[in-house]
Amino acid sequence: MSRTVLVTGGTGYIGSFTTLELILAGYDVVVIDNLYNSSEEALNRIQLISGKRPTFYNVDVTDAKQLEEVFEKHPGIDSVIHFAALKAVGESSEIPTEYYRVNVGGTITLINAMQKHNVKNIVFSSSATVYGDATKHEGMIPIPEHCPIGPTNPYGRTKMMIEMVIQDHCEANPGWNGALLRYFNPAGAHPTGIMGEDPLGIPYNLFPLLGQVAVGRREDIKIFGDDYDSHDGTAIRDYIHVIDLAKGHIAALARLRATNPGCRAWNLGTGLGSTVFDIVKGFEKTVGRKLKYQVVGRRKGDVLNLTAVPKRANEELGWSAEITLEETCRDLWKWVSNNPQGYRQQPPQELVAD
Ligand code: NAD
Ligand code: WQD
Repeated sequence: MSRTVLVTGGTGYIGSFTTLELILAGYDVVVIDNLYNSSEEALNRIQLISGKRPTFYNVDVTDAKQLEEVFEKHPGIDSVIHFAALKAVGESSEIPTEYYRVNVGGTITLINAMQKHNVKNIVFSSSATVYGDATKHEGMIPIPEHCPIGPTNPYGRTKMMIEMVIQDHCEANPGWNGALLRYFNPAGAHPTGIMGEDPLGIPYNLFPLLGQVAVGRREDIKIFGDDYDSHDGTAIRDYIHVIDLAKGHIAALARLRATNPGCRAWNLGTGLGSTVFDIVKGFEKTVGRKLKYQVVGRRKGDVLNLTAVPKRANEELGWSAEITLEETCRDLWKWVSNNPQGYRQQPPQELVAD
């Protein structure tokens, strides 16, 4: 059986780490990305670590013709891991139709191309954001997969719709398999300091922002609310190391190939909740100094608690998160301190020589 995997959005943060793990697990990987929020330098870094460079095409996932050409050139592709998407929650309320076009439209275009080329396994980047505010539902914190879904912004609704599209397509087409992977909060970098998150615009997530404060690219961080019902008043999230998350995709892919399960959702999280202050303090400890912050009001759309019950993934995929929060902070620090400008600079020679 062929072992070629097509990875859409494979130069992005989670896509590049998953491409690396696929290569390390012995798969051939074809990456497509339109470089909207990433750079080809990620491929150099994958090669530095693994010794192998994935095949790459600058392709837009909404372009049926370009997609078809990739499948035609690589008849060995038998599975797709689909990351390519727009992901800025705030922006999705400003330009919702663009989010529906790229995220939902792109997935439909991809599924149609897969259908034409008889490729029937899709692993999809969903998000814990599909649950919305799970505190509204009795007994649903931490959050199991059967928690009712109800996203609170257009970005989250694109993820919910795509889940439905994949579910319906798998039901209509026996032999198709879909893994809906609901990520909690991905964080961290490669322990070598060679690969990490390098958003092209201004980041809005806690970890990359803290990294920028630590290297002096940003004066301070705003803490969005200290009046939540938690031990220190700040909101609770389930931060999962990006390498653990990437390995979850390999496990899901193996499950689809081995058991032909149709469509199924799995939470990918650690099961452990941390507050914003827990993270700030943990990262300060790693960096060895205080980081400047100021508490401001709650951010619109934020919820108190997004923590996973990862039991289904533990049991069915034989996967669990293993990397500690302390290691996540350490890896982020190594990445940002060695690459303060991200992929817009060469990797430090001492890292390459290691
Ligand atoms: P990212 O922006 O780093 O990666 C997405 C990649 O998709 C980028 O490389 C971008 O250039 C590419 N892309 C965007 N539009 C495209 C198009 N039309 N055609 C081809 N490529 C396109 O983001 P990420 O954090 O790695 O997220 C990957 C996936 O995981 C996304 O689907 C995202 O919604 C989902 N997700 C992310 C998080 C998170 O916190 N990072 C959490 C849950 C789910
Ligand atoms: C984490 C915590 C903030 C920034 C988002 C998306 C979600 C998913 C993951 C894609 C929250 C607080 C943050 C800051 C802060 N992405 N915070 N100051 O909001 O849990 O999830 O990314 O699917 O859809 O919504 O992640 O990192 O933005 O925030 O105080 O400057 O840190 O309020 O409590 P979030 P985050």
